[in-house]
Amino acid sequence: MKIDFTGKTAVVFGASRGIGKGIATVLASAGAKVYVSSRTESNCKGLKEELTAQGYDAEYCAAEVSDYEAVDRVLVKAIEETGRLDIVINNAGIVCLSSFLDATQDEIHDLININLMGANNGCQAAIKHMIEHGIEGKIVNTSSFAGRHALQAGFSHYGMTKAGVIYLTQAAAYAGAPYNINVNAVCPGIIRSDMWESILDSYVESGMDREESWKQSLKTFIPLERGDQKAEDIAYTVAFLCSEYADHITGQSINVDGGAAMN
Ligand SMILES: NC(=O)c1ccc[n+]([C@@H]2O[C@H](COP(=O)([O-])OP(=O)(O)OC[C@H]3O[C@@H](n4cnc5c(N)ncnc54)[C@H](O)[C@@H]3O)[C@@H](O)[C@H]2O)c1
Repeated sequence: MKIDFTGKTAVVFGASRGIGKGIATVLASAGAKVYVSSRTESNCKGLKEELTAQGYDAEYCAAEVSDYEAVDRVLVKAIEETGRLDIVINNAGIVCLSSFLDATQDEIHDLININLMGANNGCQAAIKHMIEHGIEGKIVNTSSFAGRHALQAGFSHYGMTKAGVIYLTQAAAYAGAPYNINVNAVCPGIIRSDMWESILDSYVESGMDREESWKQSLKTFIPLERGDQKAEDIAYTVAFLCSEYADHITGQSINVDGGAAMN
């Protein structure tokens, strides 16, 4: 069994670092031409240059994912330049650690606009283009184990948006199904990306030791004791979902989380 994306065009939103960078790299290493997108142009450009230096085929186009037109512009660029749009990954996201009662309206709106509307924009725009061009494409959204059920340890409104991404994935899968467009999601566990470093920052601010907090986070949330997950661990599942081996899988949200959620 070999996954080969040669001749295919992929767009990865939220690609500049962390899990998205891992996904972009794995898709490119399997032969896809990958359009990397994130909010800041210089970050996208930097990753494009990193990927091309490794011999992979990459382009970049910045976009704010909460802006439908901006998301659409990235997809249109990929289609105009390659004539294709086979794979779209809606991975951009932010976290907010305010408790349920303390979170401000602005914090909640940002979470909804980026985590949920961002994924919605990528799904809606991508499915429309795939239908128009007769492409039986694959879309994968990034949810979280925190979207499976509320955690006593926090992540309240973050988890709310990630639960929304699981529902969105099912609704979009129904929309794409008559055209053989598959829409799935991955639910990562804990990856020590910049996002998780920002969570550790808050533990340090409350007087805890950074490395101890990290070990404690793994212990609190992750039953498997293999150590921390890497971005690539998520990316391999994404690559599978984008391959022909997953042609009959749609509307699913797959936990890749060391057992953090088992539902
Ligand atoms: N790190 C974890 O432990 C973890 C666990 C579960 C789910 N997730 C989810 O995985 C995804 C990636 O997380 P990460 O840990 O790699 O985070 P990260 O902060 O390292 O990277 C986030 C990416 O999203 C982009 N982004 C953020 N806001 C954006 C916006 N408004 N418009 C466009 N791009 C934007 C950033 O530029 C960056 O490329 C997120 O959706 C996150 O919620 C992460």
